[in-house]
Amino acid sequence: MAFDPIGSHSLILRHGLPAILRPLTADDRERVREAFHRLSPESAYLRFWTRFRELNPRFIKQLLSPGDDTHATWVIILKENEDIPGVGGGSFWRLHDQPLNAEVSFTIADEFQNQGNGTILLAALWLHASSLGITHFIAHVLDENFVMRAWWDALGASASRHDREWLLSLPLDSSLLSSGPVANSLRRWLIQLGS
Ligand SMILES: CC(C)(COP(=O)(O)OP(=O)(O)OC[C@H]1O[C@@H](n2cnc3c(N)ncnc32)[C@H](O)[C@@H]1OP(=O)(O)O)[C@@H](O)C(=O)NCCC(=O)NCCS
Repeated sequence: MAFDPIGSHSLILRHGLPAILRPLTADDRERVREAFHRLSPESAYLRFWTRFRELNPRFIKQLLSPGDDTHATWVIILKENEDIPGVGGGSFWRLHDQPLNAEVSFTIADEFQNQGNGTILLAALWLHASSLGITHFIAHVLDENFVMRAWWDALGASASRHDREWLLSLPLDSSLLSSGPVANSLRRWLIQLGS
């Protein structure tokens, strides 16, 4: 599949906003800090499982470091609005002990949630990871993260519960996606970004 892991893609988001989907670069440090700063405590908690005010600089450094074939972060940035640091971002990190699997995580700015942006990022991460031989995405999700659980359930992910978290697992094989509108949205983005 023709997918350029360092390229950028022009997109129109669900409400007609023009945007760019691209990998995070070393120049994005301030953008990441500011985007986190604007995130609601609820969204930050669902992503990081703890409450804090600033992102750990070591975490930002990891995000920005060149990923070779072990990790990548993709972001959606509005084209015509420099005041908004980002619509959202998603990352995958290959597991050292299970190199066909990668852990994924997403953070969508509160005002851009439930508008299809997580789906776009999942498609980009899927195509990028598949090009590196990764066959499954896993996600560790807090018990109360109903959106992640419902979203991945509708895609056909398997789920197992451990204490206060769910471990979700999604095969990167579009023939194994569920039928239905949620999986169809992902299918459309896989085709659009992969062609
Ligand atoms: C979870 C999260 C990444 C989802 O991203 P998103 O951009 O809101 O998701 P999408 O709009 O692409 O929606 C995907 C599907 O999830 C479901 N969904 C999304 N938001 C929903 C909501 N508020 N209520 C019910 N279902 C919802 C829908 O089924 C949707 O599919 P559809 O658009 O075809 O109807 C985002 O809400 C977020 O950043 N949350 C806070 C941080 C977090 O929980 N990160 C995940 C930890 S790994």
